[in-house]
Amino acid sequence: MEKKKILCVGLVCLDIINVVDKYPEEDTDTRCLSQRWQRGGNASNCCTVLSLLGASSAFMGSLAPGPVADFIMADFSQRAIDVAGVVWQAEGQTPSACCVVCPSSGSRTVVLSDTNLPDVTVEDFSRIDLGQFSWIHWEGRNAEEQVKMIQQVGMYNSMLPQQQKITVSVEIEKTRETLNQLFPHGDLVFVSKDVARHLGFLSAEAAVRGLYSRVKPGAVLICAWAEKGADALGPDGLVLHSDAFPPETLVDTLGAGDTFNAAVIFTLSNGGSLQEALSFGCQVAGRKCGFHGYDCIAGKLDN
Ligand code: ADP
Ligand code: FRU
Repeated sequence: MEKKKILCVGLVCLDIINVVDKYPEEDTDTRCLSQRWQRGGNASNCCTVLSLLGASSAFMGSLAPGPVADFIMADFSQRAIDVAGVVWQAEGQTPSACCVVCPSSGSRTVVLSDTNLPDVTVEDFSRIDLGQFSWIHWEGRNAEEQVKMIQQVGMYNSMLPQQQKITVSVEIEKTRETLNQLFPHGDLVFVSKDVARHLGFLSAEAAVRGLYSRVKPGAVLICAWAEKGADALGPDGLVLHSDAFPPETLVDTLGAGDTFNAAVIFTLSNGGSLQEALSFGCQVAGRKCGFHGYDCIAGKLDN
């Protein structure tokens, strides 16, 4: 029997990445050290990392036909990511982001144009065969619609024995109020440092303790906190922590959070413990921060 896939639902966009030696002053005209195009978007990056770790991954999100989508589709194909769930929209533009990566400070600054491409709906979602997936991860976007998709999975799961149920994870990364309705809908919930801070928490530990009442009974809540590592809290009430694994030289932190999420999902979906997942998440994300892009992740984590 073929191994079931991990589906990630959310954004795919084009990242135009400018690497600079120093973050530019406003209203100046400077040269970057290098520039590249990269497929981006949290859910799409999560698929990239899952695929590099050796999992079968699938992506679901919107695209508009055109040269940017061609670039994106070629890259999905190169990474062997299943794109049967891509929804081709007749109106709107494929989102693209202007990214400034600054190795000397470790910052990554993103300006995303994500204005008029419709998001995937529950109708789109109902067309896919859920039997192919062992895990579905949602990047919080059109939350109201995403809750309906998760409810469909709930209904599907209710007809199955425990070991065949699909695990649901959600990521609440942006500080838009509407995304908070996703908290009670994941078996695993990732909340970002940005959201945690916005809600008044000053550390990952404070965030998982303070926000745990929002998740459903039995769920796990995880909060990553850049160079401070990450914390998790599950139904046993014990807060787990992993330190970060800082690379020798900080190079590119764009997508560190997506890398962390993918490595956590990878570990848990292979039966690893929560502590193993946290540590592996920080290890893979830390390694990624030492290199441009994601290729460094493939099969090089033993040392
Ligand atoms: P993002 O801002 O991309 O959402 P986070 O800042 O939450 O990501 O970081 C996710 C994980 O990536 C952290 O838990 C950590 O393991 C790793 N990480 C991020 N930044 C650094 C850093 N400067 N040094 C080491 N590890 C880092
Ligand atoms: C990284 C990322 C980029 C994208 C941006 C969108 O986490 O997904 O690839 O440009 O965030 O917010």
